[in-house]
Amino acid sequence: MGLYRAVARPLFFALPPEAAHRLAQTLLCLPLPWERIGGAPDDAALRTSLAGIELSNPVGLAAGFDKSCRHLDALGRLGFGYVIGGTITRDPRPGNAKPRIARYPRRASLTNAMGLPNPGAESAARNLARSPRSGPRLASIGDQDPADVIATHVLLEPLVDGIELNASCPNVSWGRDRDNEAHLALLLRELRARRTTPLFVKLPPFRSIVEREVVLALARIAQDGGADGLTCSNTRSVADRRLSTGGGGLSGRELSPDTVRIVAEVRRATAGTLPINACGGVFTAADALACLEAGASTVQVYTGFIYHGPRVVRDMVTGLSRAPSGRYLAPASPPGQDGTRPGGFRREFGATAGAGERRPGPTRGSGGRPAAGGPQALR
Ligand SMILES: Cc1cc2nc3c(=O)[nH]c(=O)nc-3n(C[C@H](O)[C@H](O)[C@H](O)COP(=O)(O)O)c2cc1C
Repeated sequence: MGLYRAVARPLFFALPPEAAHRLAQTLLCLPLPWERIGGAPDDAALRTSLAGIELSNPVGLAAGFDKSCRHLDALGRLGFGYVIGGTITRDPRPGNAKPRIARYPRRASLTNAMGLPNPGAESAARNLARSPRSGPRLASIGDQDPADVIATHVLLEPLVDGIELNASCPNVSWGRDRDNEAHLALLLRELRARRTTPLFVKLPPFRSIVEREVVLALARIAQDGGADGLTCSNTRSVADRRLSTGGGGLSGRELSPDTVRIVAEVRRATAGTLPINACGGVFTAADALACLEAGASTVQVYTGFIYHGPRVVRDMVTGLSRAPSGRYLAPASPPGQDGTRPGGFRREFGATAGAGERRPGPTRGSGGRPAAGGPQALR
């Protein structure tokens, strides 16, 4: 058992979850040798391209850990292939009342009802501008009303390598009474004309047949609306009376089997045309491999980071490095359709649409901001 699990985790877990999180963030402000603490090896064979974003490995840090975008430099230096800040909304949000995180240590899971507390887009932009770039970084933005999404996007996009649109938070009130399919289609139309960096849509998980139809419909809308990739998935709604809201989103170990299944189904539904970031219960290299073999291009980690500590990324990257070459190439699809290259020096995961292979649309380095056009109503 490593130092984190033997010493640091018991100390963190002796504190209430949010106090432990604040302590972790205080530590991340210290000038510590984060590369050595993370210890992730640099294996050229794991380099990959996610919608044109060059990654040193396919293991990302999921949205929600650094809600203010203040610590992305230190987090990136732990060895993640990319890190995601946010979710950020147009205006600051206090989130839901506390308590809003519950741990289930025996199940290596958590339930949170944070409700997207964040400092707002202006403050997040200032934090990003101040923070050195240690590697690829994305900002997650909430799927609020179009004018808010666009204002947030305008502020954050120049400071990151890509945007993840969080269309799946179970802990916010907006979206309860709206037509989510029409809303997503509208957001994508509005963003399409303006954006210059890749856009990923983070979808909710599904278990029932009805949920499946809803999520696969959203995936196809994202595909048709020009999204550059999908993240599957967010937390799953559960009840927990310890939380002020009476329930929240379940994360961690219990999501692992669902994540593999969902990645495979979404990949099929989108015909392998979009890269998928697998998220939910990814703790080990074996979990990551299962997701990559199901068709994911990258994996994202949150709860695994809480339970396994900063070495989680080293363990995953090392395990992936040792996996037999080609084992985790996604099922072949017609050449040119998904950018998958069979074998070769650079391993390509899932539907990794490389910079030169992306579908037509705005790309960084392909001529800068696209000419203004398209729907203008919400400018
Ligand atoms: C405390 C907490 C806060 C989170 N906040 C966000 C968030 O702000 N935006 C988001 O897209 N996902 C958020 N998530 C969801 C994670 O990004 C991830 O999708 C989910 O936890 C499943 O992955 P995991 O099992 O590796 O944790 C949060 C998760 C937790 C546990």
